[in-house]
Amino acid sequence: MHYKVYDLVDTGDDRGGLIPFEGGMNVPFEVCRTFYIFNTRPGISRGSHANRNSQFLLVVISGSCKVKIDNGHEQTIATLNRPNQALWLDKMVWKEMYDFSYNAILLVLSNAKYDENEYIRNYADYQSALTTDGSGVKGDDASY
Ligand code: TYD
Repeated sequence: MHYKVYDLVDTGDDRGGLIPFEGGMNVPFEVCRTFYIFNTRPGISRGSHANRNSQFLLVVISGSCKVKIDNGHEQTIATLNRPNQALWLDKMVWKEMYDFSYNAILLVLSNAKYDENEYIRNYADYQSALTTDGSGVKGDDASY
């Protein structure tokens, strides 16, 4: 398994929603890094890379976007349009985020610190990394 889309546990009540990420709740790794992407417009594409070490959890907390997920063998497109829906991506997954709505805010959690050296930004390099070092498609499964 190299990706998973799932519903997040909402601990909110009649005052509103509240989705925590802690200690295995809602996120299948220890969170080390968080960032969010915003002010991205329709027509803009982001990502188009793979990471040797980083797993990611993507949550569109406002608006919507699509994510093309590629493990070197097959492609899937996930549509994220609810703040209680998450997309987990294993390390060594090639991803592209696109079709952002005007109000989109994409929250991203990761198990690893930012390190440009672990990014593979060229698809041919990605494919040869999959065959030469065998990493990626057999990466650790999420516990979800
Ligand atoms: P980039 O990887 O191009 O973003 P995306 O995956 O959305 O296309 O990153 C854009 C810039 O932000 C680049 O200069 C690196 C920096 N950056 C960080 O400093 N820390 C991070 O965790 C991330 C994801 C990016």
